[in-house]
This record gives sequence, structure tokens and C-alpha cells, in this order.
Amino acid sequence: MKTKALFITAEGTEGVGKSTGMQVVCDVLEAAGVDYIRTREPGGTPLGEALREVLLQKDAGFDISADTELMLMFAARMQHVDAVIKPALEKGQCVVCDRFTDATFAYQGGGRGINDQRIQALADWVHPDCQPDITLLFDAPIEVGLQRAKKRGELDRFEEEALTFFKRVRDKYLALATEMPSRFKTIDAVQDQQTVAVQIKQIMQSLLREYQA
Ligand code: TMP
Repeated sequence: MKTKALFITAEGTEGVGKSTGMQVVCDVLEAAGVDYIRTREPGGTPLGEALREVLLQKDAGFDISADTELMLMFAARMQHVDAVIKPALEKGQCVVCDRFTDATFAYQGGGRGINDQRIQALADWVHPDCQPDITLLFDAPIEVGLQRAKKRGELDRFEEEALTFFKRVRDKYLALATEMPSRFKTIDAVQDQQTVAVQIKQIMQSLLREYQA
């Protein structure tokens, strides 16, 4: 079966079931016989994973300013796009990626207050010709997600942020989804897992119908 290689991303605030949702995406691709890779940001390459550790660890003994955080996200992304994402898409493999530049607009833009033009300039530099075909936005009230995240164990540097930070992140994600309705599919992540899975399967099946040659 021939399919245009799709670049699929998953986004959302903490504890909204992104990983479980991504597994459903992968299961659908697998069942349809579509070749794919699953990856994540920050991360996805040895350098990206090392930067992830720096970005997520708390009590590291050093501060990271908002602008430095932005640059580190894009440094990890540049390596990821060049070494993993583009080569896979060029080979015809679909890419399922846990977060991409929308996360930067949401966290460093909405959350930290960096303006969109600055983020867009970096996006234009790092991946001018590489944009997601579809973005699943898992959306739930912040309180619900953070409670789930806390149950998973110790909180990382981002998870420790205040509720108001995550409210700004969520608002930014929702604004992006409104701005780009054909790329974003917003999923109500408060629903039970089975309902969410059915919704993801429907989205993926219609996407595959659209793209299969
Ligand atoms: P994860 O919890 O989905 O693994 O993501 C790690 C954290 O990194 C999460 O709190 C969101 C944050 N993040 C940003 O702040 N900006 C970005 O561009 C990306 C990709 C992630």
C-alpha cells in the first residue's frame, strides 16, 4: 500500500493522555501496513535527549532563562529535523512525533511570554519546509491533567510550574487550533480512554483515506 509520508504530531499540557493517544495512532498505522517511526521532542536524537535532560531536570544548580530555553528547544529540534524527521519522510516513512514547534508557541510563547514573531523566525530557520500534516491536540482542564501527572511520580522542571503558567499554555494551544483548523484536531481528553481511542481511530482512518494513493 502506498501512502504519502505523513508527519503527525501530538500536543497538549501535562497528563492529558498524549502517550496513550499516540499509541492508538501507531496501532492504526500498523494495522494499515504503513511504515512509520515514533519519536519525541525535546529529544529524538542522542543530542536532543541530552538537551532534554538539561531542560527537564530541576535543582540542576543553574538557571535557564526563557530565551535560553527557547534556543535549546530549537537546537534539539534542528538536529531532530535534519537527522531523523526529514530523512524518514524522504524515505516514505510516516513520522509520529510527541510535540513539535506548537509546543514552543504554547510553552515558551504562551507560558513564558516570548513573542510569536521571535519563535516564528526560529521555526522559519530550522524547518522552513517541514510542517506537520496533522496535529492531535489533547485538551483537558489543567487541574485534571496535573493531578494525573502528579500520580506518575516526581515532577520535572516544567511540571513544577504554577497553575497560571499552564493555563496560559492551554489557552495558547486552543488559540493555535482555532487559527489552523484544518491541521489541528482537538480531542476532549476528559472523556474516558475508550472514547478518546475511537475518536483518534476515526481521525486517522479519514486521514489515511485522504492520503493513500
Ligand atoms: P513531555 O512531558 O511531553 O515529554 O515534554 C517535555 C516538556 O517539555 C513538557 O513540559 C513541555 C516542554 N516543551 C516545551 O516547553 N517546549 C517545546 O518546544 C517542547 C517540544 C516541549
